[in-house]
Amino acid sequence: MPLVTSKELLQRAVQDHFAVGAFNANCMEQVQAIVEAAQEERAPVILQVSQGAIRYAGLAYAASLVKIAASLVDVPVVLHLDHGTDYEQNVRCLHAGFTSLMFDGSKLPFEENVAITKKICDIAHIVGIPVEAELGRVAQSDEHLTKEQVEALMTDPDQAAEFIRLTGADSLAVACGSVHAMRSQEAELDIARIKAVYEKTRIPLVLHGSSGVRESSIEEAIQYGIAKINVATYLNEAFTEGIKEGLAKHPDSVDPRHALSVARERVKERVREKIRLFKSAGRISSSGGFVDAPRQFRSAHLGGAEE
Ligand code: G3H
Ligand code: ZN
Repeated sequence: MPLVTSKELLQRAVQDHFAVGAFNANCMEQVQAIVEAAQEERAPVILQVSQGAIRYAGLAYAASLVKIAASLVDVPVVLHLDHGTDYEQNVRCLHAGFTSLMFDGSKLPFEENVAITKKICDIAHIVGIPVEAELGRVAQSDEHLTKEQVEALMTDPDQAAEFIRLTGADSLAVACGSVHAMRSQEAELDIARIKAVYEKTRIPLVLHGSSGVRESSIEEAIQYGIAKINVATYLNEAFTEGIKEGLAKHPDSVDPRHALSVARERVKERVREKIRLFKSAGRISSSGGFVDAPRQFRSAHLGGAEE
């Protein structure tokens, strides 16, 4: 089906206590792995493109690959900009047909973050596209912060309420204990904070840096407002290991497809595992709508409903 926006999916997820997996893709094999796993699991899915992926593949390739993948399946697929760096990048993605945007102003002073987020929301909302914002900051593992330093960056619930009131953002990335690009699942989330941010904002919350978070913490967070969960490192690790495995199996081959098909399969297995953990498996019926509701997603610009 055509791409859908993240708006209804995330509202539905927060209401029914599941989370939509937002998987980062950098190349065709990763896009295929993610969409095929979602289709087989009957799960809605978000494919997200980072700044690095745009630099690597080019915006046109990234957008086209996801659009083609979506057209081949009958579960809802969203094309999302991950950690958009500025206003111009968001406008370029809007023009390229992204159905969900993000502005990451987490390193900016509050007022500046508000001003740019609002400007992006104002333009995106004209054509029915939702915007994710970030308040507080999810750190990177190579910053090597202490637990106390990570805590100091966490989202303040009252400030979050004010931020959403001023910007009109549709979803909010919360800093709540995770750290980007961790290779082991050790981080525990601050569930009380997630709960407080959700109670004050009443909008779907987004977990970044999920590759390093304990499964039990993720399961709990889904109960209290986390409706979109970003996964990148865990998939990249599987892809790279799959390439090595494929090369080892066919040491004399010069055909890259031998290694790339093993890599694609390894990513697919991990996407399937995460979809089940996030409780989004089995949510979509054979008609393409949620199992207990007719199909109705905003798929086109100008906010038109698909059906
Ligand atoms: O925006 C992308 C994510 O937050 C991914 O984080 O690489 O730790 O899974 P991760
Ligand atoms: Zn992130």
